[in-house]
Amino acid sequence: MEWTLVLTDTAAPVIELRNIHKSYADLEVIKGVDVTARKGDVIVLIGSSGSGKSTLLRCVNLLETAQQGDIVISGEPVKWKNPGPDRVPGDKDQVRRFRTNLSMVFQQFNLWSHLTILENVIEAPVTVLGTERSIAREQGQRLLDKVGIGDKSDRYPALLSGGQQQRAAIARALAMEPAAMLFDEPTSALDPETEAEVVNVIKDLAAEGRTMILVTHDMKMARDVASHVIFLHQGVIEEQGSPDEVFGNTKSTRLQQFLSSTH
Ligand SMILES: Nc1ncnc2c1ncn2[C@@H]1O[C@H](COP(=O)(O)OP(=O)(O)O)[C@@H](O)[C@H]1O
Ligand SMILES: [Mg+2]
Repeated sequence: MEWTLVLTDTAAPVIELRNIHKSYADLEVIKGVDVTARKGDVIVLIGSSGSGKSTLLRCVNLLETAQQGDIVISGEPVKWKNPGPDRVPGDKDQVRRFRTNLSMVFQQFNLWSHLTILENVIEAPVTVLGTERSIAREQGQRLLDKVGIGDKSDRYPALLSGGQQQRAAIARALAMEPAAMLFDEPTSALDPETEAEVVNVIKDLAAEGRTMILVTHDMKMARDVASHVIFLHQGVIEEQGSPDEVFGNTKSTRLQQFLSSTH
């Protein structure tokens, strides 16, 4: 008998979001969203400004609290206390562990300006993971080499281009050896020349089989790196599927409108 392994369906889920709802006061921003990212998946979230992409991403690593729904990371559900509209994550150690395991890369890099690039990369491994400084430096240098800025390790962020700073931020995220990476519009603040450098690093990470959820307005990158595309519209999933389905055989009128507005 022959067995065929269908990796995308059988790989273990790293991030599972089930029926997520999130409101800010009376404004319901996420209205019942389900997302599963299995090991090696690159889930790309697209949608108009204000559709809830950043909010959803921030709910995943508990920077925001979703008032309803389950969040399960590597099989372990978030433990809530005060169930109901005022619930909050109840286990501080779990929150710390999950944040460590879900490295986030932001639009605005968020590097420490008073630390060199290498010091930025090793800060969390040393303080959070307890990695010995000399080992963290070696690992950090390797990661900076990997993202193509190994020769800049002793520079301060202000002396680097936007693309170099963002690559340093990606190296810093990788240094935590996360189970998944969350990117919130990582190329939006970049000029076109340096944008390509960052896109290439993200493509490499996708090709390595890293699990990622990526918010982007760059439809070309979305097509290139996504294993699964989700179009969010006013807090619900309006359409989703493979890049070929979503971009090549678009069903919803709203997505058609959105895609034509991004050209
Ligand atoms: N901290 C906040 N307080 C109140 N409203 C917010 C907050 N953050 C986001 N929102 C609102 O939630 C909606 C979704 O925002 P966001 O998730 O940032 O969308 P996107 O990332 O898709 O542009 C918007 O209407 C925005 O104004
Ligand atoms: Mg956003």
